[in-house]
Amino acid sequence: MSAQPAPSPAIRVAVIGAGLMGREVASAFGRWFALLDCPVRPELTGVCDVRAEALDWFRQVPTVRHFETDPRALLARPDIDVVYVAVPHDQHEALYLEVLRAGKDLLAEKPFGIDLAAARRIRDEAVRLGRFVRVSSEFPFLPGAQRAFRLAASGALGRIIGVRSAFLHSSDLDPAKPINWKRQSARCGEAGVMNDLGLHVAHLPLRLGWRPRRLYAQLQKIYRERPDGRGGTVPCDTWDNALVHATVDLSGEPVPMALEMKRMAPGETNTWQFEAVGTDRGVRYSTKEPKTLWTYRRDKEQLWERTDLGFDTPFKTVTGSIFEPGFPDLIMQMWAAFLAERAGALGGRFGCATPEEAVAQHELWAAALASQRGQRVVDL
Ligand SMILES: NC(=O)c1ccc[n+]([C@@H]2O[C@H](COP(=O)([O-])OP(=O)(O)OC[C@H]3O[C@@H](n4cnc5c(N)ncnc54)[C@H](O)[C@@H]3O)[C@@H](O)[C@H]2O)c1
Repeated sequence: MSAQPAPSPAIRVAVIGAGLMGREVASAFGRWFALLDCPVRPELTGVCDVRAEALDWFRQVPTVRHFETDPRALLARPDIDVVYVAVPHDQHEALYLEVLRAGKDLLAEKPFGIDLAAARRIRDEAVRLGRFVRVSSEFPFLPGAQRAFRLAASGALGRIIGVRSAFLHSSDLDPAKPINWKRQSARCGEAGVMNDLGLHVAHLPLRLGWRPRRLYAQLQKIYRERPDGRGGTVPCDTWDNALVHATVDLSGEPVPMALEMKRMAPGETNTWQFEAVGTDRGVRYSTKEPKTLWTYRRDKEQLWERTDLGFDTPFKTVTGSIFEPGFPDLIMQMWAAFLAERAGALGGRFGCATPEEAVAQHELWAAALASQRGQRVVDL
């Protein structure tokens, strides 16, 4: 019998914000053994939420030993290496800075601070303290997104003619849906839907080096009031939909790039799309058809070809190669990338969004707000 190498010690992770995303992380860690080639193993050791009742769900997770309602009490624990923070945007800066100053590394939720100034302060503090920080953006870990990224990065597209990156919801179409923090500028940020969905659309273009030099934005507020859940109504003052028409200079040529973020896109639940078309090749992918990758090639005829994708994730798993991945798989892949990169073992695989990329997306949304205010093209 060959001796198995001793398993390396687990990286101890804590979650601040026990809402939707905090549970996804616990779930991903709970089936970590599905990963075949991730060199790092996480263990969820602590959870914190200002609502004590939100902690209860985590009592079924056997590794969790710290249950706190005060983030400082959690961060004072020595047996935590990494903290994942998933709280409303107005809480990002204070909590992210506390995590960094407590000596922990950070997987931050997007948009990485309520606005550009906050994002820059968080980034600068992480650099000053030398902490490892990345920002949550999971859709690029889809096999289709990875293929689209690799083709676009290869230079095979030829001269790029146009780019479109979109993230579409319809969860706000019901006017009777009560207000929540994401629909209020004071808590979500003035950028509204761009704070909410923007990193999802900007991550791949920024990673490809396609940084807009100027843009024009069309922002829409569709429902201006919502029920407050107590029989009255309150203002709903965030931007619901954003269409950002950007220009990116590629090989000295101006190329149009559309960045589309919508909370009110009828028929769309959670649709992430990316398309880049050049003179020689093109690529198009949408989570609407998660197994389908469309690629264009110019031959004697012009062809859009369909590839049926399988489970070709960056980190290999026990799942057979013919199956299709879903949202929980992406969270797991993103965490595998975060932990592997932190350990210096990413090995050429796609890494999580960086603080620089998070700041760069905020620069876009600040320019988009200026464009909307002045109804003009804004230079970046
Ligand atoms: N990556 C993704 O796909 C994705 C999806 C949804 C949300 N998000 C992001 O995750 C973050 C949270 O969103 P959500 O939908 O999970 O929100 P949520 O409202 O479901 O959960 C937030 C939790 O944070 C808690 N909280 C608030 N202030 C706190 C504080 N100071 N200390 C400790 N706990 C506090 C709340 O009680 C709540 O339980 C946001 O930044 C959002 O943009 C990311």
